[in-house]
Amino acid sequence: MHVDFYEKIWMWGALVIIVVFLVSMGYTTFGRAMQPPSNVEMIDPEAVRSDAEFGNPGVTINADGSATVVIQAFMFAFLPGEIRVPRGRPVTFRLTSPDVIHGFQIVQTNGNTMVVPGYVSQFTTQFSRAGEYLIVCNEYCGLGHHLMWAKLIVEDMPGSAGAGTGSAR
Ligand code: CUA
Repeated sequence: MHVDFYEKIWMWGALVIIVVFLVSMGYTTFGRAMQPPSNVEMIDPEAVRSDAEFGNPGVTINADGSATVVIQAFMFAFLPGEIRVPRGRPVTFRLTSPDVIHGFQIVQTNGNTMVVPGYVSQFTTQFSRAGEYLIVCNEYCGLGHHLMWAKLIVEDMPGSAGAGTGSAR
């Protein structure tokens, strides 16, 4: 069968692209162990509710004024449902799920992560604008998915006033 020279170039080009995609997928999956953001911290999903940290979720204000927020994401709510954090200070969110995959998106901010059972998802951000933010689950997790939300309240706390020059929104 005669194949035109230019046709051959396109065929080989397409093949090379496919091979590059497959190799990069394999490398990131097996070589880089794709995980929830920033952490390769594992936890038994069945032990989440009795865990010393996640069984008692909430906000901790650290000595330097930053905050650590521990959250359980489950069908179909976040615990705690109302989260108060300081403005202009680093806020570290730590999340896990005792059941299925959920999403955690703080609307109109750069706070957004998947919550995968078996793993602890962690990210740190700052909020320069005080006020109320809606948190939604953005991974379909079941019949009550659309009811799964929480409220974030960013407010000036002792030590955080006037510090709102951070990098976030
Ligand atoms: Cu949880 Cu959708």
